[in-house]
Amino acid sequence: MQYAIVTGASRGLGEAIAKQLILKNVNVISVSRSENEELKSLAEEHGVHYSHVSCDLSKTEEIEKGLNHITEEVFHDKTHYVYLVNNAGVIEPIDTVGQLETEAVEKHMQVNVTAPILMVNRCIREANARDISMGIINITSGAAEKAVHGWSTYSSSKAAINRFTETLALEQKDKKHLILAYSPGVIDTDMQNEIRSSSKDAFADVDKFKQLKEEGSLRSPDEVAGVLMDLLLEPRKVENGKVYKLYDLVNG
Ligand SMILES: NC(=O)c1ccc[n+]([C@@H]2O[C@H](COP(=O)([O-])OP(=O)(O)OC[C@H]3O[C@@H](n4cnc5c(N)ncnc54)[C@H](OP(=O)(O)O)[C@@H]3O)[C@@H](O)[C@H]2O)c1
Repeated sequence: MQYAIVTGASRGLGEAIAKQLILKNVNVISVSRSENEELKSLAEEHGVHYSHVSCDLSKTEEIEKGLNHITEEVFHDKTHYVYLVNNAGVIEPIDTVGQLETEAVEKHMQVNVTAPILMVNRCIREANARDISMGIINITSGAAEKAVHGWSTYSSSKAAINRFTETLALEQKDKKHLILAYSPGVIDTDMQNEIRSSSKDAFADVDKFKQLKEEGSLRSPDEVAGVLMDLLLEPRKVENGKVYKLYDLVNG
């Protein structure tokens, strides 16, 4: 049996990834605060197992509780492959340093950095103990590689995920896991709404992002998920620990 644990599958990119995995007959465990009824129906239609683990990834005790549930459901004698897609993410706080609120910074780091690290930490232990191969995909951003005015926490959290991915690949080099980060470009999701609603003081490039939307330059979550699926179909081409960028993948 194949399973995919997808965080943030309630909407946006995570929903599209979960949908495409279900269509490939992979059993899906979705992890987020709210549930997506369409995924549930799609899985039923296709005779695929689907379950939702309600979890606020900004709270360590909820992550641990969620992981107890997930590992019991996923890692057993009949399992031969497990995907873990660390997709859930937040962009807020968007503001300049000096104006950042403590609670928002804490929540951001918890969801974007601590949660994916804890998810991988537990799942890789379970997988290695049972000799189960994993495909670990950490969703990152181009912001990891450059400074963006107003995005200090987001750039920092995504840079941390890139380095975590690289280190994990180094440590697991003798195992058969697939380990990569995926930088999906700009996608038409709620996160982009949030970005466009920022003030110019908080985020100097806000007009550029408004223009991207007006010009129709944002990609659909389905298209972006499809590019990732194509990459996963060719595991031998994947260099473990690397950041794969949508732009490079679509432009060959
Ligand atoms: N959109 C873009 O242009 C863009 C560009 C580059 C990278 N990315 C990355 O792509 C990933 C997906 O982004 P998106 O655009 O699809 O975002 P989105 O539409 O805002 O969706 C975010 C997802 O994360 C989940 N989430 C947020 N906070 C959570 C929490 N505390 N606990 C559990 N789940 C939580 C949400 O679920 P609930 O609200 O139900 O909990 C939701 O499913 C993120 O890692 C993002 O950084 C996006």
